[in-house]
Amino acid sequence: MTEDLPSAEPTPFQKIVRGRRSIRRYLPTPIEREKLLACLEAARLAPSAHNGQPWRFIVVDDPGLKERLAAAAFSGIYSGSKFAAQAPVILVLLARTQFMAHGLGGRLQNVPFHLLDIGIAGEHIVLQAEELGLATCWMGWFNFRKVRKLLAIPRKYKIMAMMPVGYAEKRPRREPPRRALEEIVTYNGIDRE
Ligand SMILES: Cc1cc2nc3c(=O)[nH]c(=O)nc-3n(C[C@H](O)[C@H](O)[C@H](O)COP(=O)(O)O)c2cc1C
Repeated sequence: MTEDLPSAEPTPFQKIVRGRRSIRRYLPTPIEREKLLACLEAARLAPSAHNGQPWRFIVVDDPGLKERLAAAAFSGIYSGSKFAAQAPVILVLLARTQFMAHGLGGRLQNVPFHLLDIGIAGEHIVLQAEELGLATCWMGWFNFRKVRKLLAIPRKYKIMAMMPVGYAEKRPRREPPRRALEEIVTYNGIDRE
């Protein structure tokens, strides 16, 4: 990044944003109920198109069910995602897609607003977790069909993502590369190419 950003001591929020990583190694240590609830509460308060709040969250914290979920979700081509099963909690993020006003606005604008909504709510969980010393990882690589079947998720809910929540066994040292601000921001317009 070459553009100057304020160089003062990072604010608490900046520390959270800069410190967050996708964690792929978890301790078996259970997470405190209050911390889990704080994460879910952060999601509950997220903004959404038309205040539609289309999100639903399944908390899988029963060890037996979590094991069966992991076996279903992370087998075959998805086996690289097995690390998520180490976490004491796996969240399944759903969107209720039948909400009319929400759906209509999105169709008119040609934007699937529920995708934005779940993204925002999910990231509220991630950032709240980070503040509380917990680790998470967004997951889109798993067997959606088997997850739906195992958890008997009705069709009116679209499965959007899963997210392990727990304490990190290991945090990656290397910072994942990010594009420079100049590459992703233009002022007052954007080039044709
Ligand atoms: C929608 C979404 C889906 C993702 N799916 C996976 C996944 O299935 N498995 C995985 O290991 N990481 C997954 N990630 C994590 C990304 O790989 C990660 O955010 C990216 O490499 C940047 O690293 P960082 O989160 O540590 O900054 C996903 C992230 C997002 C936002």
